[in-house]
Amino acid sequence: MLETQDLNSTIELLQTRASCAKLTGPAPNADELAQILRCGLRGPDHGRLKPWRFSVVQGAARHKLGEVFAQAAEAAGDCAQAKVDKCRNMPLRAPLMLVAVCEPQLNSKIPLIDQVLAVGAAVQNMQIAISALGYASIWRTGDMVQAKEVRAAFDVSAAGSIVAFLYIGTPQIPARVAPVELEPFVKDWI
Ligand SMILES: Cc1cc2nc3c(=O)[nH]c(=O)nc-3n(C[C@H](O)[C@H](O)[C@H](O)COP(=O)(O)O)c2cc1C
Repeated sequence: MLETQDLNSTIELLQTRASCAKLTGPAPNADELAQILRCGLRGPDHGRLKPWRFSVVQGAARHKLGEVFAQAAEAAGDCAQAKVDKCRNMPLRAPLMLVAVCEPQLNSKIPLIDQVLAVGAAVQNMQIAISALGYASIWRTGDMVQAKEVRAAFDVSAAGSIVAFLYIGTPQIPARVAPVELEPFVKDWI
């Protein structure tokens, strides 16, 4: 059990965490990033299979990923130059990105969905850690998670999936926190 002050701030953090689509530098430094990743690796993991893989994309690597996104858009038949350019610029929307991949064990008794959810839980743990450290993030997927060029760039196997592009940085705009309402999402069963 946490001390009262820590407990209150933990609950407050969880209830006010918000995504931010406008991110700039600075990004978490190497020590902070290691802390964030450790929080991810403490996510709940059915069967302790560790189905997660995380790739760090920052600096010049973001431009290389942008080229992969642009190739994927072109291959998908998006001939409009504006769309291809938009995809090329996507990785530049934040100074740091974590790409979370699920590589499931198919011969395990643990269902595939549990393994994907474990990676999702890791991503959420990291989002909370990012907010706790004073940064912000946004979890994105979109067409690029399915694109074969992007999957190949991250060595995703046929059974694997890209679960998140987690964009991370310093928020450029204040967080918009919607009030948390329990109704109509929660009810007593019976
Ligand atoms: C699996 C998953 C995929 C998402 N993909 C996108 C996306 O591609 N683009 C986007 O704008 N938001 C996406 N979101 C939603 C944002 O990450 C964010 O949760 C949403 O904008 C609500 O903001 P909040 O986290 O502050 O409540 C995704 C969320 C999840 C869980």
